[in-house]
Amino acid sequence: MKKLVILTGAGMSAESGISTFRDSGGLWDRYPVEQVATPEGYAANPKLVIDFYNERRKQLLTVKPNRGHELIAELENFFDVTVVTQNVDNLHERAGSHHVIHLHGELTKVTSSWQPNNPKYIKELKPEEYEVKMGDTATDGSQLRPFIVWFGEAVPMIETAIDYAEQADIFVIIGTSLNVYPAAGLLNYVPAHVPVYLIDPKEVAITSGRHVNVIRKGASEGMCELKKMLLNETA
Ligand code: APR
Repeated sequence: MKKLVILTGAGMSAESGISTFRDSGGLWDRYPVEQVATPEGYAANPKLVIDFYNERRKQLLTVKPNRGHELIAELENFFDVTVVTQNVDNLHERAGSHHVIHLHGELTKVTSSWQPNNPKYIKELKPEEYEVKMGDTATDGSQLRPFIVWFGEAVPMIETAIDYAEQADIFVIIGTSLNVYPAAGLLNYVPAHVPVYLIDPKEVAITSGRHVNVIRKGASEGMCELKKMLLNETA
């Protein structure tokens, strides 16, 4: 089976009702990013940050995967699919995707404030545990923090994602403004002969200058069109 690698961003989940970050009215308009998504913000006011992610987790219980997520999962019948997502929600998994690499962490997990990337301390929360409180601790005694990669922090999963980008037979980008590195640089690892598709209702600047097949649509409609294109080509 051909290897299909799909890079997704906040636009993937927009039709499920989760705000994007940089569109007008997006999350970073409403919450100062330096307060809720940096290690400095967390050090200055951990409760504010913990509450912010409690809210995001609570929202997770009220949203569902959209048709776009479902179509990506269905493509597993035809391709060896790897999803590389910048999203911290679990909508790809809930739609049935089996291989999802989360570059920026996962809302459903918490970890140690002292060693956030030590697998020993990463814990999956059950829905009834979604509200983390000040004083809840990891097994090393530190405050439990969200398992989220904040601005200025290392992105440990990028190496794995690069390996998949280098091996891709087809590369797809959905719903990301490609503003945040290293995720935005993944396209540079995709071999030159590999077809690249981009689904987004707005124009997204591709700095490398390589040819990209643009589908100027939302994630669900765009995925429907892409599925037809890919299946015709592989038939
Ligand atoms: N379908 C597809 N794409 C959409 C849709 C939709 N229905 N609605 C909006 N979009 C597009 C926007 O046009 C934009 O290009 O989704 C993109 C969202 O861009 P951003 O808000 O910048 O989100 P993203 O690129 O995922 O941000 C990257 O930055 O804030 C940090 O860590 C956070 O993972 C995030 C990273």
